[in-house]
Amino acid sequence: MTLEERMARHRQSVDRALDRILPAADQQPSRLHQSMRYTVLAEGKRVRPVLTLICGEMFAAPSAPLVSAGAAVEMVHASSLILDDLPCMDDAALRRGRPSNHLAFGESTALLAALGLLNLAFATLASLPSPAVPSERAGEAATVLAGAIGSSGLIAGQVVDLEAGESVTDLKTLEFIHSHKTGRLFIAAAELGAILGRARPRERQAVARFAKNLGLAFQITDDLLDATGDVATLGKDVRQDKGRTTFATLCGVEGARSLSHELIDHAVSALEPLGRRGAPLQDLAETIRDRHA
Ligand code: IPE
Ligand code: IPE
Ligand code: MG
Ligand code: MG
Ligand code: MG
Repeated sequence: MTLEERMARHRQSVDRALDRILPAADQQPSRLHQSMRYTVLAEGKRVRPVLTLICGEMFAAPSAPLVSAGAAVEMVHASSLILDDLPCMDDAALRRGRPSNHLAFGESTALLAALGLLNLAFATLASLPSPAVPSERAGEAATVLAGAIGSSGLIAGQVVDLEAGESVTDLKTLEFIHSHKTGRLFIAAAELGAILGRARPRERQAVARFAKNLGLAFQITDDLLDATGDVATLGKDVRQDKGRTTFATLCGVEGARSLSHELIDHAVSALEPLGRRGAPLQDLAETIRDRHA
């Protein structure tokens, strides 16, 4: 199976699961549920749940719980996008090719939809226990995801990012911001697959190291695309980072690009302990190396 086919299959199963898990658009309070569905079901790349599914398949994780875990990861991600776009944060007008959630539904509904999505993500993990998934493993998955997005994870990255504002930031702080606001969720996405597939500690460490490097490369490229890309291709506002320190301003566009490529190389090297089984992750890393959207 080619990577494109594999990714399309994974995206389709995650999209189906999300559609099933999210409350129906006409379920009361319908405006809130429409707002939750609006951002999640819009056209996103689904990179994080695809990472969960590839890692899980690599370790023969049971399929239905794996897809549910991928859906939980995507709900958490979508929640972070809704919050990130709010006027008190990045004040962005466009997301996933549509007006941002708060522009379509109002700030209060957007905020509550983001909270609703976070809650639903953890409720989804709490419902994983079954003969195929012992409750300790579901608990571990929830602990890993909670840690990744908590006040020492994604939220920490977002806070330091917002506090930095337009001040000049050094490389160490920027690395902290990117590895937390983006890297931590990539790591959790990969680890959830490894946990559900009962990977050995060494194997889990390999996919976590892969995801750490991939996540950092992904955010550096996001900064590059903010500086060089266009709204039509990205489906979100560009030049949002104008006046702020990013890898592009600190290292230059070419410097940031080569740093991102180096990180992709590190991600691929981290797969060595997995041998040939790591091939689909290596393919995924190559698509991120060349991404233009
Ligand atoms: C956007 O993530 C936020 C970042 C961490 C860069 P994506 O680029 O994965 O956005 P979607 O999910 O495809 O919309
Ligand atoms: C945000 O980074 C990462 C999140 C946790 C949402 P950005 O602010 O650069 O993401 P975009 O460019 O708005 O997607
Ligand atoms: Mg932001
Ligand atoms: Mg933003
Ligand atoms: Mg950005």
